[in-house]
Amino acid sequence: MNSSRYFALIPAAGIGARLGADIPKQYMPLAGQPMLTHVLTTFAAASVISHVFVVVSPDDGYIGELMAAAPHLQGRVSLLFDGGASRQESVLNGLQAIRPLVGDDDWMLVHDAARPGLTGGLIEHLIETLQDDPVGGLLALPVVDTLKRGDQRARVAQTVPRTALWAAQTPQMFRYSLLLQAMSQANAVTDEAGAVELLGLQPRLVEGSPRNFKVTLPHDVALAEMFLKEEF
Ligand code: C5P
Repeated sequence: MNSSRYFALIPAAGIGARLGADIPKQYMPLAGQPMLTHVLTTFAAASVISHVFVVVSPDDGYIGELMAAAPHLQGRVSLLFDGGASRQESVLNGLQAIRPLVGDDDWMLVHDAARPGLTGGLIEHLIETLQDDPVGGLLALPVVDTLKRGDQRARVAQTVPRTALWAAQTPQMFRYSLLLQAMSQANAVTDEAGAVELLGLQPRLVEGSPRNFKVTLPHDVALAEMFLKEEF
């Protein structure tokens, strides 16, 4: 029997400068709730997830109010005031902070606070696909657009064949000890899979969903609300 547990780790210590809002992106209201509340609620409601850890900045002034307004998260979500200067640092600090609470073979699902469209179904799909995988993997979407590499004048320098290209999403799911080792050794990676790849391993790509996109620019807000208000 497979006795590994599944934990969620949500890095939420960024400021989201590209969105241009006056509060950090993860606290922006979306369909009536802070963006981060949507993510925490989805993980807290997933019975396969043993516990949810969220990494916020040491001087975060918003998370207390968010938790007070969400009694359904009590007991399911723990706060780690360990955020760092980069996403990679926030994840690494979070992994180190929970060291006494998790086993080496337990699975960590690292998910961006800025992807509020994640569903319980996508979490289950990821876990079902990867639970016996020797490496782990991530949700991702096959690229459908033709890709152009631009030069400084926004002129096409090259058309990049899209065959076999995927756009990485989260959650990214790896066993605790492997992920800690990968994140400790990596330098300037933008996702956990990138750190695991530097160990010479090949994470598995598991098809995600467009609704799990990362809210980044101002016009993304309306699209995210559309997904959150409707059942797609
Ligand atoms: O800025 P971006 O959307 O790429 O951030 C992805 C995720 O990483 C967000 O959930 C953000 O809050 C988190 N992050 C973090 N610590 C940082 C920078 C980003 O936890 N220093």
